[in-house]
Amino acid sequence: MDKDRKTVILCLLLSAICSPVVSEDWKATVVKRLDALVTSCVVVPCSFSHPKEKLPASRLRGIWHRKSQWNQLIYASDDTTVLDSFKDRTQMLGNLGQDNCTLEITDVKNHDNGAFCFRIELARTETDKATKDKFSFVEDCVELDMLSEPAKPSLVHSPTATEGRPYVVTCTVTHTCPSHVPKFTWSRSNTDRPTEVHRLIHNGLWEAQSILTFIPQAMDDHSELTCTAVFNGQKTTSATLKLFLKRAENYNHIIIPVAVGIGTAVIFGVLCIFMVKKYKKRIIELQNQEGSMWHRLSRMSRRNRS
Ligand SMILES: *[C@@H]1O[C@H](CO)[C@@H](O)[C@H](O)[C@H]1NC(C)=O
Repeated sequence: MDKDRKTVILCLLLSAICSPVVSEDWKATVVKRLDALVTSCVVVPCSFSHPKEKLPASRLRGIWHRKSQWNQLIYASDDTTVLDSFKDRTQMLGNLGQDNCTLEITDVKNHDNGAFCFRIELARTETDKATKDKFSFVEDCVELDMLSEPAKPSLVHSPTATEGRPYVVTCTVTHTCPSHVPKFTWSRSNTDRPTEVHRLIHNGLWEAQSILTFIPQAMDDHSELTCTAVFNGQKTTSATLKLFLKRAENYNHIIIPVAVGIGTAVIFGVLCIFMVKKYKKRIIELQNQEGSMWHRLSRMSRRNRS
């Protein structure tokens, strides 16, 4: 069938295009885009792989250069070859012997947006500065998105603040400078030390959290709580929440009226019994008086007739 043959050809073509190309070439994996906060640091994750044989780490030379110009170095182990504008600001955090080419740029400037690429060279001898083989991974470069100010922290808290019960507030910021993490401060000092959590979200983006737990008192109602994060390089950001306190639950509003009701009923009851007793006596007295009066009257009438 014509249609079937076309489908088969299409499938073959697709599989030829999509199948992984098996190659023995050197490869580097560099994160493609990364935010960088001006004045802070940025750590660019990078790893590489090389053909079969294990290379002596002592002869490996890692280099980072501008994508536009191979000879504009922003990092090299021999820092005399590094561009003046990057001198003393770049450092290889990764261990080349472990295929790790992670780069740190400190004191980030507005114009550090890149793109920057990693290149590795193999020296002829351990002390030799000249090189034998050169490999460059211009396909894998990083572009930095410059942030002039950090974003506001996010504050997440327990659903209700109750007097005398623990209340938890979590302050979260993201950053790309895991070598000098942000420092947190809180506007409350009379609390336990906040817990800090640092975790990698993905591709060089990190999350830093400070978790504060405290027991609110009555005077904390309508008070403000501020979390401040100071980033490497001193840029600061903060967020504030207002505390609305729920009173500790008590049942006075039920117990007091009930007690008053019962008390009134008891007093009223006692009064009734007392009154009934008192009037019973009087009734009996009256009845008795009535009886004796009748008796007397009937005696008088009898006397008259006779
Ligand atoms: C590479 O080195 C950096 C800095 O020491 C480290 O944080 C990272 O986990 C390493 N990456 C891998 C894949 O080992």
